[in-house]
Amino acid sequence: MSIIEKAMEKLNPKAKAVESDAPAENESPMPADSTANYREINLERLKQRNIISLHGENYSASIAEEFRMIKRPLLDNAFDKAVRNGNLIMVTSSLPGEGKTFCSVNLAMSIAMEMNRTVLLVDADVLKPSVLHHLGITADRGLMDLVQEKGVKVSDVLIRTNIENLTILPPGRHHKRATELLASNVMAGLLEDMAQRYPDRIILFDSPPLLVTTEASVLASHMGQIVMVVEAEKTPQPALKEALSLIESCDIVGLVLNKTPYIPGFEYYGYGYGYGYGKRHGQ
Ligand SMILES: Nc1ncnc2c1ncn2[C@@H]1O[C@H](COP(=O)(O)OP(=O)(O)OP(=O)(O)O)[C@@H](O)[C@H]1O
Ligand SMILES: [Mg+2]
Repeated sequence: MSIIEKAMEKLNPKAKAVESDAPAENESPMPADSTANYREINLERLKQRNIISLHGENYSASIAEEFRMIKRPLLDNAFDKAVRNGNLIMVTSSLPGEGKTFCSVNLAMSIAMEMNRTVLLVDADVLKPSVLHHLGITADRGLMDLVQEKGVKVSDVLIRTNIENLTILPPGRHHKRATELLASNVMAGLLEDMAQRYPDRIILFDSPPLLVTTEASVLASHMGQIVMVVEAEKTPQPALKEALSLIESCDIVGLVLNKTPYIPGFEYYGYGYGYGYGKRHGQ
């Protein structure tokens, strides 16, 4: 049995009560168009990079179908009142280069294509950010500015895009105490606030590898759900085991097997992608 099957065997459905996911009465939903920041994403460029880019014809039907299957349980949990902060979803992996950003961006695009579903994609890999690069856009301010500068509001640094339901929170300006800032109470407060204030929105975090930095495991402790990317034929079993042990605080962990080898005749697996998903009880 593979490590993935073993890990999934451990994962059981969960049902943990929360006090309330409802926003306070005087809080309005995140106004997507309240910011002057706007970027045009080149959809043709996305297509060339194997990223889902449009409704229908402009992208690989297979990759779109795969991410549709991955997002379905995430969306179900995100709007299940029994899941605490279910709308906060982190994409991570054990080691560098396993496909975290590729999966974050594709997942965000896939969710943004749902009717009535908005997604905020956060580049929380502040030491080695690449979400903006994948999307072919640039921005100065973002997450790090929110946690280090008093008076900066989320809506000041959000980037709206030509993909109507997709908003980006860039990593922001590098700070030498980035790790400490991400582990700070300010960051914890920000995450809680985002989850509660915008319960109708999926907030997806691209993160660093769990075994290389401490930020991802700190972030994990605030997440309602985690997508763990595993690189086919590459991620060592002990590394995956250790990485899973670092995110035990999160009740719902899904495993995505990325870069699966092409199998002629099996079109479904032909785009280097496969997935597995499971849930487990909180402690
Ligand atoms: N399923 C896939 N199909 C095609 N290309 C992929 C796939 N997964 C990842 N890639 C490519 O592999 C490279 C590494 O992926 P990515 O940047 O997403 O990894 P990462 O885990 O975010 O790396 P890092 O740890 O450095 O942040 C990128 O060029 C990406 O486009
Ligand atoms: Mg990355």
